[in-house]
Order: sequence, then C-alpha cells, then structure tokens
Amino acid sequence: LFVGEVEFLKGVVAMDGLPPDDRVEVCFAGRSNVGKSSLINALTGRKGLARASNTPGRTQEINYFTLADSHFLVDLPGYGFANAPLAKVKEWQALLKQYLAGRVGLRRAFVLIDFRHGVKAVDEEIMSLLDGSAVTFQCVLTKADKVKAADRDRVLAQVREKLAKHPAAFPEIVTTSSETGDGIPTLRAIIAGLA
Ligand code: GTP
Ligand code: MG
Repeated sequence: LFVGEVEFLKGVVAMDGLPPDDRVEVCFAGRSNVGKSSLINALTGRKGLARASNTPGRTQEINYFTLADSHFLVDLPGYGFANAPLAKVKEWQALLKQYLAGRVGLRRAFVLIDFRHGVKAVDEEIMSLLDGSAVTFQCVLTKADKVKAADRDRVLAQVREKLAKHPAAFPEIVTTSSETGDGIPTLRAIIAGLA
C-alpha cells in the first residue's frame, strides 16, 4: 500500500462534490502551515502530489486522493490562518462540520500539531468538533526535525494533557518529520491497518 498507488482525485468545495462514500477514509486536519500536504507527500513518496508551500492557507479545498482501490486520503484546508475573513472561517467551519458528520467511511482524523508549538486554542476547537461528530482522532506531531531536544518532553506532556480532555482522542501520539521520514512508516502502517 502507498508508494505508487496514490492518485489525486479531486478538490471539493461543497458537500455535493464529495466522491461516493465507499472506501476507508482518513483525513488530515491542522493549522495552516503545520505540514499536512508535506505529510501526504511523504506518506505517498511523491513530492509534488499534495501541494506544499510557504504561503499559509494555500490548500483551500478538501483534496481527495485515492490510495490503491481501498482508501481515500483527505487533505483538509488549514485552519487558524490569521488573516482569513470571518465569513470565510464560518463557511469553512460549516462545511467541515457537515463533512465530519456525513462520511460513513471516515475511520479516523489525524490532527496535526507542530512539535515545536504544541496544542493551540484553534486545535482544541477542532478536537471538540471531532468529539461532537464522534470521529476518532489521532494526534500527529509534525516537523520533529525542527524541535529542540530540550523541548520535546515538555511539548509531549502538554499534548497528552490536552488529549486526555477529549473523548474522541486516540491516546497514542505519532511523531513525524516529512523532511527526514521519521515516523512515516509508522503512520503508513496505522492507515493500512484501518479497515
Ligand atoms: P496549508 O495547506 O496552508 O494549510 O499548509 P500545510 O499544513 O499543508 O503545510 P505544508 O505541507 O504546505 O508545509 C508548510 C511548510 O512547512 C513548508 O515550507 C514545508 O516545507 C514545511 N514543512 C512541512 N513539514 C515539514 C517537516 O517535517 N520538517 C520541516 N523542517 N519542514 C516541514
Ligand atoms: Mg496544504
């Protein structure tokens, strides 16, 4: 599974654009710039598959990728983008809520957190939305190559403490780097194991 078996399917901006709900689905959520697109590229071994950029908020659509003939990988638009107009934010929250409530195939959401920064208020909002939608989520710490050794334990403890408050949170945390490939095989195995 994964390498050589992933294709971009489509970008979706409204519920009626979603593909048939007939595969095992996982989605990637996280603040703008946290590394969602880079993680999908690393998982699939294809650098340019999901666009990754330095400009926060670049991924504005719900991007669907097919994995073999069994899974959908879903790259969600980043949240917490400082300059986004309120109307846009509300629109996006409404679409996200509908999406989370409406996909039978959705087995797990991965909530990406920058390992250097830990869980922020906007991340907790998404976690609460996932609780309310009864979508199991797992925390993925990104940019592990950038975190200082002295900060690791403190951030991990903060993340654990936050997760403990969310009934939909899966307790195991995955640490990753799309740069070095750390944790990527682990995450692949987790996704492949969801049926
Ligand atoms: P939006 O689509 O805007 O929500 O952003 P995103 O979450 O998809 O982030 P993206 O993958 O575009 O990455 C943002 C920036 O972080 C890019 O400059 C990436 O190269 C960088 N980046 C992502 N993952 C890593 C990582 O593991 N290590 C390092 N050092 N940089 C990373
Ligand atoms: Mg992106």
